[in-house]
This record gives sequence, C-alpha cells and structure tokens, in this order.
Amino acid sequence: MAKPVQLTWLTGAQAIRLHDAGLRPPRGPFAYALVCDVRDPALAALANLALTDADLADERAPSASARTHFRARRSLLRALAAAALGVSPTSVRIAYDSDGAPRVDGLPAFVSVSSRGPLAALAVASSPLGIDLEPFDASAEPVDAVLHPREQAMLAELVSTARARAFLRIWTAKEAYLKALGRGFKRDPATIAATCEAAQFSIDDGGPAPLPVATFAPTMGLGDLIVACAVTA
Ligand SMILES: CC(C)(COP(=O)(O)OP(=O)(O)OC[C@H]1O[C@@H](n2cnc3c(N)ncnc32)[C@H](O)[C@@H]1OP(=O)(O)O)[C@@H](O)C(=O)NCCC(=O)NCCS
Repeated sequence: MAKPVQLTWLTGAQAIRLHDAGLRPPRGPFAYALVCDVRDPALAALANLALTDADLADERAPSASARTHFRARRSLLRALAAAALGVSPTSVRIAYDSDGAPRVDGLPAFVSVSSRGPLAALAVASSPLGIDLEPFDASAEPVDAVLHPREQAMLAELVSTARARAFLRIWTAKEAYLKALGRGFKRDPATIAATCEAAQFSIDDGGPAPLPVATFAPTMGLGDLIVACAVTA
C-alpha cells in the first residue's frame, strides 16, 4: 500500500542556499521540491552544469528557448538530486523509462519534473514521486473526460473563479499522482478521484486508503501557480 513519506518543501533559491550551507540528506526518507524560474540569477551556478551527451540526447524541445529551458531544468534536476544524496552532480545521470518517466540511474533517488516555459517544478525523493505545476487560469473550464464522477459533482456546485481554481487543483493533484505511478496519461485520469478537505488533497485509487497529495502555491513572484506533489512509499 502506498504510504506518505516526509515531504520537505524547499522553494526558490532556498534549496540552493541550504545546499551551499552544507545541507546533508537525513538518514530517513527524503523528499525535496524546487519550484523556480530556471532563469533566476540565484540559480545560475546550478542551472549551468556541463550536460552530458545523454542529457542532450533527451532534449526534444522544438524551439531555441525551450531547449535553453530544458537544459537548465536538467542541470537543476541533477543538482537537486545530488544535494539530496550528498554526491556530486557529475555522478547523477538521468534517464527515462519506457513510459517516459525520468529516473536516476544507479542511485537511490527518484525524480519528477513539470514545467511551463521557464517555470519548473523539480522534485527528488527516496520513494517514487510525481510533481505537477499549472499556472492558474481563471477561465479554465472543467474537462469532464478527465474527471471522476465525484469530482464532476463537486465542481458542479462551484461557479466561475472558484470552479476554475478547484478544477486546476484537482488536475495538478491527479497528474502528480499519475506521474508518481510512472504512467502519466497512459492511465485514464477519470478512474481516480481527488478529494480536498481543508488544505489537504488525497487520491482515491480504489485501494484501502487514499494517498495524500501535497498542494502548494509558491509565493516567490512566480505568478499564480498551483503545484502538487505525490510521494509513495
Ligand atoms: C507525463 C505527462 C502527464 C506530462 O504532462 P504535461 O502536463 O504535458 O507536462 P509536464 O511539464 O507537467 O511534465 C513533463 C514531464 O513529465 C515527465 N514524464 C513523462 N512521462 C512520464 C511518465 N509516464 N511518468 C512520470 N513522469 C513522466 C517528463 O520528465 C517530462 O519532463 P521532461 O521531458 O522535461 O523530462 C504526459 O506527457 C504523459 O502522460 N505522457 C506519457 C503518455 C503519453 O505519451 N501519452 C500520449 C497520449 S495521451
């Protein structure tokens, strides 16, 4: 059964400052997330690591700016995983599994990535995890095809901006969960149900207990973002 593990949010440049200050991973399970603009000057040193041929082979970006963002994301992801593991970023190699999920080759860490232009949500943990980032869009209409009937019923009771925000929060929570499973949209998102009580989200996937999902609204001048992270154990 999936169980939650400790989740520590490190936002913006804080992750890097803590690393520079000698942050070492705890002995127990770890989970870190970095939500940032990859162009942030505070991150420049870690966003410009020399990439390997394997990193560059993963680049599928269609435009020059998208390639620049991919390279910075990949560099930061390796740096974040290295910080969590207490190893050099040069020893962290990222690969993809057959379903497209990123993984760390040969080291005991799991990673997940989400991005929108230069904005990135990167996560590393000692258990499989998923992260998703969506900019808030007040005009977002619920898409019934991706929603569980219980979610559709809940959203039908809301109007306008509240409905748009609730839909996007549900959507990020579900996408984070599906990434944690390593399946992405190969799994039908309508078959799982997100519920929200107070600030806490959970996902019901038919198992004995729902899995908690952390949802997070960064407040460091990155705009109105919704971020969700699911960690399994
Ligand atoms: C994974 C997926 C949910 C991402 O959705 P998105 O909102 O477009 O993009 P995001 O920025 O949030 O996430 C992209 C990241 O997801 C990760 N990813 C891709 N497939 C994944 C999977 N099966 N499991 C976990 N993570 C995955 C990748 O790391 C990617 O980032 P990268 O290319 O920079 O390494 C979606 O692309 C997907 O399901 N892909 C696999 C199935 C597929 O190809 N379906 C096509 C028909 S629906």
